[in-house]
Amino acid sequence: MVEVRAERASKPLPSSVTIYEVGPRDGLQNEKAVVATEDKAEFVRRLVTAGLPVVEATSFVHPKWVPQLADAADLMTMLGEEGRAHPVLVPNERGLDRALELGMKHIAIFGSATETFAQKNLNRSLDEQFAMFEPTVARARAAGLDVRAYVSMCFGDPWEGAVPVDQVVSVGKRLFDLGASELSLGDTIGVGTAGHVKDLVHAFVGAGMRTDQLAMHFHDTYGQALANAFSALQEGITTFDASAGGLGGCPYAKSATGNLATEDLVWMLTGLGIEHGVDLDAVVETSVWMAGRLGRPSPSAVVRALAG
Ligand code: HMG
Ligand code: MG
Repeated sequence: MVEVRAERASKPLPSSVTIYEVGPRDGLQNEKAVVATEDKAEFVRRLVTAGLPVVEATSFVHPKWVPQLADAADLMTMLGEEGRAHPVLVPNERGLDRALELGMKHIAIFGSATETFAQKNLNRSLDEQFAMFEPTVARARAAGLDVRAYVSMCFGDPWEGAVPVDQVVSVGKRLFDLGASELSLGDTIGVGTAGHVKDLVHAFVGAGMRTDQLAMHFHDTYGQALANAFSALQEGITTFDASAGGLGGCPYAKSATGNLATEDLVWMLTGLGIEHGVDLDAVVETSVWMAGRLGRPSPSAVVRALAG
């Protein structure tokens, strides 16, 4: 591959990026096949070994809502001490209790920028979601945990259509201000485009947030995820969520497909000379192995190209 250094791009790009791996959580939550707990543990361990600095492992949500991750406690027990460093999704105080029992150190709450998705994903109205998150974050912080906040449907919603930037900023800031250290902006159904990404990042910065407090979470439904990541890089964003092999989706938003593939992101960052610390071959090997467990090929173009 020809390496085009970042300095030669039209705008200076960050010199290094953190990849927040969501494959074991976002990737597996939507799969028809239920993956064995041992294989999930192996997946997490392989991703860590491949150099991914953060691996979101599972969700402490209601097991009936997401049966694929109903083994969250077993998985974390299996991972033992090393597993406690991995973030897990927690929607409420019941989820927090479960995470605290296992000694977890990082949780992620997940709010919605729209009324309809709040109802469908959390069984709460847009306002009610804050009443659920507020005591959850307060107790987590008091117990010394780090909290990430997600905001979903930032670029469009399958039921409500376009979502005004002001609405996303207002909900996102409110979630962040509960006591989070990072806010991840989710394009849950993958409809965002590069200019929209710039507008949203500008709006958050205009509302007082720093780019190092923001992460981008792109799904690739319309094939825009990588272009959107590049656009965000140009705005100074340095944390990107991605999923090994491009697995992913949300069971409560049918139009949500796979996440930005970790391998596709790594390929682009390497080409730009941006540090990421990830061993591409090891992630590809892991995705091919997981594709075998799931019984379907990886949707990632880079995995297909390199695995052949
Ligand atoms: P609810 O039914 O309203 O819950 O669900 P509730 O508070 O009324 O409680 C009902 C019962 O559930 C109670 O038990 C609770 O104890 C129990 P009972 O007293 O009847 O025996 N319960 C729980 N049990 C285990 N763990 C829990 C828990 N909470 C309550 N945490 C709830 C509300 C939020 C729990 C439910 O809607 C839920 O679990 N939703 C999760 C949906 C989900 O995981 N979606 C996918 C993740 S979001 C995503 O993918 C987007 C993202 O990737 C970013 C992007 O792409 O944009 C992050
Ligand atoms: Mg997602």
